[in-house]
Amino acid sequence: MIPLLLQPESHVPLYVQLRDQIRALIHGGDLRPGARIPASRELATQLGVHRTTVANAYAELESEGLISGHVGRGTFIRGDGVKKISAVPHPTSADGGLRWESLFADERGEEILSRLTQAAPRGSVSFVMARPAAEFFPIEELRKCSNAVWRREGTEILQFGPSDGYPPLKQALVGMLRSEGYEAGDENLLITDGCQQALDLVCKAFLRPGDTVLLENPAYPGALAIFTGARARILGVPVNSESGPGKTPGVDVSAIEAVLVQNRVKMMVLTPDFHNPTGTTLPVAERRRLLEIAARFQVPVIEDHIYARLRARGERVPSLKQLDRSNLVVQIDSFSKIAFPGMRVGWIVAPSNVIERLRLVKQSTDLHTGHLAQAILAEYVRRGLLGRHLERTRKAYSGRLAALEQALGRHMPSGTKWTRPEGGMCVWVELPPGFDSNELSIHTRERGVVFAPGRYFYFQNPQPNTLRLGFAGVAEREIARGIATLADVLRAEMRKRQRGARRAEVARVALV
Ligand SMILES: Cc1ncc(COP(=O)(O)O)c(C=O)c1O
Repeated sequence: MIPLLLQPESHVPLYVQLRDQIRALIHGGDLRPGARIPASRELATQLGVHRTTVANAYAELESEGLISGHVGRGTFIRGDGVKKISAVPHPTSADGGLRWESLFADERGEEILSRLTQAAPRGSVSFVMARPAAEFFPIEELRKCSNAVWRREGTEILQFGPSDGYPPLKQALVGMLRSEGYEAGDENLLITDGCQQALDLVCKAFLRPGDTVLLENPAYPGALAIFTGARARILGVPVNSESGPGKTPGVDVSAIEAVLVQNRVKMMVLTPDFHNPTGTTLPVAERRRLLEIAARFQVPVIEDHIYARLRARGERVPSLKQLDRSNLVVQIDSFSKIAFPGMRVGWIVAPSNVIERLRLVKQSTDLHTGHLAQAILAEYVRRGLLGRHLERTRKAYSGRLAALEQALGRHMPSGTKWTRPEGGMCVWVELPPGFDSNELSIHTRERGVVFAPGRYFYFQNPQPNTLRLGFAGVAEREIARGIATLADVLRAEMRKRQRGARRAEVARVALV
């Protein structure tokens, strides 16, 4: 029997563990050329794993030239295998250089985000991104904060530091969170490079390949990229985009319950406030129901709180973390939407044992987030400047949201619907049935207007007639111009369709 020990609780997929262990046994001489190794079915039974796990490991070892299978005879260690590894050069390209593409690991969903980050043509009105307005960036204030921290703590900034965060920033954030009613202490806080990294850390800390994660569908593509990359099984729950009498906006909590009844779900990742891409906010009663369900099934909730402080109107709704009485919520948050995304700083609020685990994962990922950005932001928060900046930008974004709604109401043809967010950065538009926003975007791009087609955000049942408008970074007059053009192009497409339908009708009548 070959000495193999697989660790199901490891982050490393079982077939990779198996492949690597057999490879080491071959190179170490424990498995000699000509030796027969068990058939995949037999080894799978011995190890208590699925047969495909062994088959996948064998397939990779065979492609490396280390083993070879013979129908009816079995699988053998190749005599020339070890030599072959060192003797055969990597494939070359036509010009004789190294063919890098042949060496890349499997693509793991990394391209999902890049669709959204494509540059908009110069001079166009771009609704593509959900990002802050650059004209409010307080360069002078930040320069003063930066000068102060260099003078006072330059040595600490330049030295390695703690993985859970630069202490002055942690203190400033604990102060901010307490003033908002959170019961968080230093031990409940981890500084990250933003929510994107927080998702990655959570993923590394909790998920094994094949574990099930529940996400809103549609969802923020960065979350999809992370969980796809981790080989998780992703289950989607619809988001109700309509509000009004008898309608409950936000993620469908009954659908969450139905998924939890039928599946063993490791965690849910939700954005209850100003959801990206739909802009919807989950009402407080639904938040309580969601937490009751999460507690009943003992499934943790990762609450993406990145937009929550950007309320433009309506009553503030307590976060899941604030309502949580069962220690089930891990809240991820960031300076990206409320301040400056380029600083790449965010944080996680969680039970202390979760923070400790995440701290270790963060340490092995990047040691710690850069001190300079943390120190400047700490000073910025301490001086009360973040609060002022937030007030200013919130007012501006609320004006932009109103301008967008007015323009949509004025210009869009009947049959078009859109969400009524109470804040955040996105409005979700539903075109009349049968229209494809991807096609529409080709025509609007030619006329200098760009947006994000809805299909970028779906991982199940894509609705091609949807699109997202990110409004926070677009000035009011640009919004008016952009929406007028979008509506104009949509009407032209509608007319084209009507003409096409009429021609088809005439042809049908002529045939009859
Ligand atoms: C819902 C959501 N989560 C996370 C992120 C990533 O945020 P950060 O810049 O903090 O990494 C974004 C950015 O657009 C987002 O919309």
